[in-house]
Amino acid sequence: MTRGFDLDRFREEAGAEAAADIKLIPRIALQAFCETPGVAKVIEAAAADRRMAKAHVKVHMGGLAAAAEFYGSAPTPNLIVVESKDAGREMLGLLDRLAEVCDAGTKVVVIGHVNDVLLYRELMRRGVAEYMVAPFELFDFMRTVGEIFCAPDRAPLGRTIAFIGARGGVGSSTIAHNVSWSISKMLEADVVLADLDLAWGTAGLDFNQDPAQGIAEALSQPDRVDDVFLDRILAKCAEHLSLLAAPSTLERAYDLDEAAVEPIMDTMRQSVPTVVMDVPHQWTGWVRRTLRAADEVVIVASPDLASLRNTKNLLDFLKQSRPNDRAPHLVLSQVGVPKRPEIKAVDFAKALEVEPVAVIPFEPALFGAAANNGQMIAEIDPRSPIGEIFRTIGQVVTGRGEVRKQKKTAFGPLLAKLRRGQSKAG
Ligand SMILES: Nc1ncnc2c1ncn2[C@@H]1O[C@H](COP(=O)(O)OP(=O)(O)OP(=O)(O)O)[C@@H](O)[C@H]1O
Ligand SMILES: [Mg+2]
Repeated sequence: MTRGFDLDRFREEAGAEAAADIKLIPRIALQAFCETPGVAKVIEAAAADRRMAKAHVKVHMGGLAAAAEFYGSAPTPNLIVVESKDAGREMLGLLDRLAEVCDAGTKVVVIGHVNDVLLYRELMRRGVAEYMVAPFELFDFMRTVGEIFCAPDRAPLGRTIAFIGARGGVGSSTIAHNVSWSISKMLEADVVLADLDLAWGTAGLDFNQDPAQGIAEALSQPDRVDDVFLDRILAKCAEHLSLLAAPSTLERAYDLDEAAVEPIMDTMRQSVPTVVMDVPHQWTGWVRRTLRAADEVVIVASPDLASLRNTKNLLDFLKQSRPNDRAPHLVLSQVGVPKRPEIKAVDFAKALEVEPVAVIPFEPALFGAAANNGQMIAEIDPRSPIGEIFRTIGQVVTGRGEVRKQKKTAFGPLLAKLRRGQSKAG
């Protein structure tokens, strides 16, 4: 038997070599607006490759003009890829329009058809992450995306958002769960909800899940915690929402080291766009450290004196220990319990000099039904205004919405530079 030339094997080996330096792409949301079918086909082929299996990719036609139009009314993903056959003023004008509606952290890759250094410089100056000249192969595309999101010196992909109650039982966990769910629906990008209330956590109950593994596995084997390990212990709750569940059993005591939780959350945010942490109402070393390290902190308070005092203390601690970060957000919860004397929302806000991002009414029937069914408020009653409140909180803590209002922003890197400059000056 003669062994002829094996074309498939040759192709496979050549492909393997071309792909050798390509990184696994993290869980980014990527939307492409192509002009030519050839480019669309290459991006679709890349999206189907195993190296991009975690990314959520959508390919549209219509090019740069369609993208500029589309994001006028939709939140932007981690990466927008726009193709433009035009390389002149019109292209730059459309890019400026797109920049105005881009949320902080969104990267933009431009695909063009001319190899022009001046154009390249002009695009880089505008904060575009990369310019690719068509035609190109799928590995070229994956390499470009990989370099943007896997460079060793890049900022972490994800944002961590911590929710903590000013008192026990104020609704902090319920709000954290509903807001995570809303963010995952709104942004169509992956969210991980980490239930850090190890003994009593209710995230599993609220999403009707009983996963065999969760954060306890990560805490007991800290040296093994990497991307692949975390993937294994996550439980899927919705298309873009995964849960890192608490054991919620009393078999052992959870006396965590001060530094136990932070590295797990850090690893998580390397590959997940949004990490929501349901932090229990405690004041231990690890809780303090987790709050100090979070990108955003939400304090949930009920309208009473104890909540007011505790919120004041939390605000003072957090402002002092993270002077260059945004102040924590305040959510007033369970407002309007019948017959209960309450501090009015305006007085609460005035005393703390903080405007609450949301005031959530006391609605025992709705919240009770959601908890009992293991469903979110918006699933129980899609028309409830409380669902809208959760979406608003989601927009604020992910930095969507408020950036939109500022308008005239440039793409991610430039914005980040400006922000850094401002905080240094201020
Ligand atoms: N706005 C609301 N109206 C009515 N009930 C609510 C509201 N918010 C939360 N609840 C209910 O209050 C209870 C406590 O909520 P949750 O567990 O979210 O609070 P928590 O602040 O996380 O408490 P813990 O201190 O135990 O962690 C739950 O039964 C929840 O369904
Ligand atoms: Mg809780």
